[in-house]
Amino acid sequence: MEFKECLFSRRSIRKFNNKKVSDKTIREIINAGIYAPSACNFEAWKYIVVKKDTNNREVLANPIALNAPYGILVVYRNDLYVTGRMYNDYYQSAAASIQNMLLYINSIDLGGVWICGLPKPSVIKKAFNIPKNFDVIGYLALGHYDKEDSQNSKRDMVYHYGDEKSFKEHKRRYTVDQVMCKDSFYKVDGDCTYTKYPTKNNLITRKAKDKIKKVIGK
Ligand SMILES: Cc1cc2nc3c(=O)[nH]c(=O)nc-3n(C[C@H](O)[C@H](O)[C@H](O)COP(=O)(O)O)c2cc1C
Repeated sequence: MEFKECLFSRRSIRKFNNKKVSDKTIREIINAGIYAPSACNFEAWKYIVVKKDTNNREVLANPIALNAPYGILVVYRNDLYVTGRMYNDYYQSAAASIQNMLLYINSIDLGGVWICGLPKPSVIKKAFNIPKNFDVIGYLALGHYDKEDSQNSKRDMVYHYGDEKSFKEHKRRYTVDQVMCKDSFYKVDGDCTYTKYPTKNNLITRKAKDKIKKVIGK
């Protein structure tokens, strides 16, 4: 697949079938992850491969993660000195790695979704024996998926925003003109960052909050 096609065709896939993904392929996906840039080139990431039979997998408590036949839990060292830590460098490094893996997954015609709707990190850390000096960054659920399934051909499960209206607003991409500022920050015509972003008090409805509560337990 040509790079541009891979980049622009990627979508979050949340519904998988049970077709096997080989260990070799999982290794290739992680290999794509470790080619991401990392602050100071520390490469302080670790990837915990989670399969349906992995011990304690159910603590992920996220329906999408639990339905996915495979997943990669990404953790990153939090105790390394990186330029004063004013920019959360280690989160950024791990995020770059996750995005690399998502693109690679798309390029080999598998599906994946980045998940942070998880229980609190301490729960995950205990279940997967993650040491104190590593932070849980996110979970990458992945697997084969049915292309003819309508749920896989549109963004229709942004369940953490909850309602139809907010889904519609978040389905599309903003245009470059709506987000690009020249020289310094200013409000742009139709700028989404002021009118449409969900904040704690507006778009996250009580119904959505209850749903999240149910999923993550607290
Ligand atoms: C940091 C981060 C956390 C995310 N967490 C979740 C999640 O918990 N559950 C979920 O279904 N999708 C999650 N997503 C996926 C986004 O909902 C998705 O990327 C967004 O709706 C845009 O859709 P697209 O990936 O198909 O372009 C997350 C994405 C990012 C970058």
